[in-house]
Amino acid sequence: MAFFTHHICRGLSSSAVRHVVIKNVTIIGGGQMGAGIAQVAASTGHAVTLVDTNEDILKKAVKGIEGNLKRVVKKKFADKPEAGEEFLQKAMQNVSISTDAGSVIQGTDLVVEAIVENLKVKQDLFGGLDKVAPAHTIFASNTSSLSITDIASSTNRLDRFGGLHFFNPVPVMRLVEVIATSSTSQETFDSLLNFSKMLGKTSVSCKDTPGFIVNRLLLPYILDAVRMYERGDGSKEDIDIAMKLGCGYPMGPFELSDYVGLDTMKFIMDGWSAANPDNPMFAQSEVLNKLVAEGKFGKKTGEGFYKYK
Ligand code: NAI
Repeated sequence: MAFFTHHICRGLSSSAVRHVVIKNVTIIGGGQMGAGIAQVAASTGHAVTLVDTNEDILKKAVKGIEGNLKRVVKKKFADKPEAGEEFLQKAMQNVSISTDAGSVIQGTDLVVEAIVENLKVKQDLFGGLDKVAPAHTIFASNTSSLSITDIASSTNRLDRFGGLHFFNPVPVMRLVEVIATSSTSQETFDSLLNFSKMLGKTSVSCKDTPGFIVNRLLLPYILDAVRMYERGDGSKEDIDIAMKLGCGYPMGPFELSDYVGLDTMKFIMDGWSAANPDNPMFAQSEVLNKLVAEGKFGKKTGEGFYKYK
């Protein structure tokens, strides 16, 4: 029975570490984040079911994962093509797809949700899954800006609910922010930390605070750069060069905005400014609003602060 497929581990040190060993993972949302998480989990030996409401997106995700892994194999197994082929086959065998999360959740140790950044939609998804998932299954959200506590509130497994915040592109970015709410059990938190380690990632943790660590610091910085540009204090090109050469950042704030997606950034900032209307750090930006209204979301649409066509 699925309920018995998990194991509780105890560490060797005097302070016992208890965690669920995560083998079977259901990832919900086959977009850029979900597909990336699926790739990393499958190539580190986890059985992954990738779920999306849209079957074409799932097919595209599997094709993308295979293409990415082929590139990895070419590089990493340049001298051992047979071992590379075996790695590729094994990783791809670890991936299955479904358009119905409820029907695949029975053997799942961990659900990682990476669907649209909308509280109600995430709550509905988890509320439904909570009724059919095995008791031991841990739920985690990859939300960028929403409160894990709010998302978890639609379920009856607050102790088995946390945040796993990956970065884009997931196979390349080494960090995962692991978030415990005030109700997350120590065992769940340790299980999420251990899972991140198994994926080869470095994890940090912080409270269930808006934006966690990275986005809470990054978005106000980017918005400050946009405001400098709006005031005419400097051109976007010069601001980007300044932050790259002056701070050693790999991208300037405008290049980074186009990469993240201006729609995503606006969505996050709108939520924060609604929650903190008097805080100038989260004030609306005319330029950002205009670009988003024009459908200029950055690299993914071919134009944002810069043109990519
Ligand atoms: P995306 O738009 O590329 O993918 C979302 C996918 O979820 C779509 O394929 C959509 O069909 C699917 N979906 C929507 N509702 C669904 C449902 N009820 N059941 C199953 N599938 C459903 O979005 P992306 O960029 O992958 O973001 C996903 C989540 O990850 C969001 O919460 C976002 O804030 C977060 N995130 C995004 C990062 C980024 O750089 N794009 C970085 C870190 C977190």
